[in-house]
Amino acid sequence: MIQIKSEREIGLMREAGRILAETRRMLEPFIRPGITTGELDRRAEQHIYESGATPSFKGYQGYPKSICTSINEVVVHGIPSGKRTLKNGDILSLDIGVTYKGYHADSAMTYPVGRVEPEIERLLDATLKSLYQGLEMAKPGNHVSDISHAIASFIKPYGYGVVEEFTGHGIGRELHEDPYVPNFGPPHQGPLLKPGMTLCIEPMVNLGTKEIDVLTDNWTTVTLDGKPSAHYEHMIVITETGYEILTALKKE
Ligand code: MF3
Ligand code: CO
Repeated sequence: MIQIKSEREIGLMREAGRILAETRRMLEPFIRPGITTGELDRRAEQHIYESGATPSFKGYQGYPKSICTSINEVVVHGIPSGKRTLKNGDILSLDIGVTYKGYHADSAMTYPVGRVEPEIERLLDATLKSLYQGLEMAKPGNHVSDISHAIASFIKPYGYGVVEEFTGHGIGRELHEDPYVPNFGPPHQGPLLKPGMTLCIEPMVNLGTKEIDVLTDNWTTVTLDGKPSAHYEHMIVITETGYEILTALKKE
């Protein structure tokens, strides 16, 4: 069942989203060669607690850390480690979840570490643009899969692989709520979008094949061909006329 959030609930999710965006902004200057993903996790966790919130991912289905740090061929759910150091030319997907007064916020972005290859810059740029193409369709009267279709059609001419095993999702008191929002498929399918629905839209796009594999830690998800992968996610609320992003600072 898709929950329509009240103004009060949307207000709390706006707060959760702001704390998340501030956590991300705090981390950004640390994303450079030499830092470990374990240190990024530690800094994020501390900032989230100091903001009066809790990290949504920690303990979620046994997940051991506060954020996900997915490097290069890791698509999602990379586990931060004090032994994993960022290198020049890497890309890092930072996925952050925050709970504030019982409501979740969830958002991800991929960053170049130092200087990356032009073909990787192009992957990041196209994946971010595909998120905004999807968001353009997020308005009352459209169906959930109008978002899905917009994302996949934007990526198609690039020849990249759009990951199908992970999808966007509703969010609120639970990190994952109805409806699921795939990043592919035909338009005009699935539930109608209505004001007060809160959704995470999150395309994951691979430079090569769309096929993935999960490592034996049962979390780390990698591309089957070992080529890099990008991930951008925003949490939004459907408004009377379109959408509002809840996980961006005013300037983002
Ligand atoms: N943004 C991801 C998602 O929507 C992050 C989940 S990580 C987990 O599934 F550890 F919480 F599973
Ligand atoms: Co999500």
